[in-house]
Amino acid sequence: MFEDLLRTRPAAPFDVALPTAALEEYREQGFTRIDRITSDEELEWLRRFYDGLFEERRGALPGGYFDLSRPYESGGEDLQPQIILPETRFPVLLETAFFHNGRQIAARLLDEVPEHLEVGGHMIRKPPRIGESLPWHQDEAYWDPSFAHEAVGVWMPLDPATLESGCMHFIPGSHRQDVMRHRHVGDDPNVHALVVAEPVDEAQGVPQPIPAGGASFHHCRLLHRSGPNRTGGVRRAYANEFIAPRVRRRERAVRPWFDQTREAWSQRDKVRALPTDRDA
Ligand code: NI
Repeated sequence: MFEDLLRTRPAAPFDVALPTAALEEYREQGFTRIDRITSDEELEWLRRFYDGLFEERRGALPGGYFDLSRPYESGGEDLQPQIILPETRFPVLLETAFFHNGRQIAARLLDEVPEHLEVGGHMIRKPPRIGESLPWHQDEAYWDPSFAHEAVGVWMPLDPATLESGCMHFIPGSHRQDVMRHRHVGDDPNVHALVVAEPVDEAQGVPQPIPAGGASFHHCRLLHRSGPNRTGGVRRAYANEFIAPRVRRRERAVRPWFDQTREAWSQRDKVRALPTDRDA
């Protein structure tokens, strides 16, 4: 089926720009959004691509498909499956309007040249009714503590992301702090998802409903979460993380949860080394 999809990618240009007010909002709050980042045609094409990948339960690289909410290799129904780095198997995903617009806007937010940014994609699927929530975290908590990171996550729902279907929630201004202490969900390092291990003022959280084909942009240290999917429809999301050239820290930050993930990952059968900087 992928061969067919590769032949039929809608290639009409679709350029969007970030309004100045959105840039200011990002600087102030650590996030912003636009109502459209790609065309209807590309959105439909991406949905078919996305569904094909999840039906395989295989991922783009060995070990690159797993349930975020349960221990690796759990049997039965997945509550929140994730595919990391789909573009490594299908570079065509780097030719989409979603990618190009995301990179242009991320570069503007990061004050960088688009071509200098690294990218890591991931897809998170919340199945109808059983789709799990993802608790409060900062994306940088997942990444190699030997480096300091500046990055923007470009997050696009392929279905309407609503309060009921599991939209994201952001805490405005929380990107100004350092990486907080995190732990694994259920205190099990075989569960990939992390949760912040310090108190969070939940009342500060602002829900971010986004229409299908819209996108939010959030800083890698912004505290965020997503709700469960209580609807009868699937909630599919596709995100690209755009990372500015990384700076090695003089001293590696102390993040034991990161080392636990690495250890748990290395114990899995048939996996490729964890692409640590790109999997959150
Ligand atoms: Ni995240």
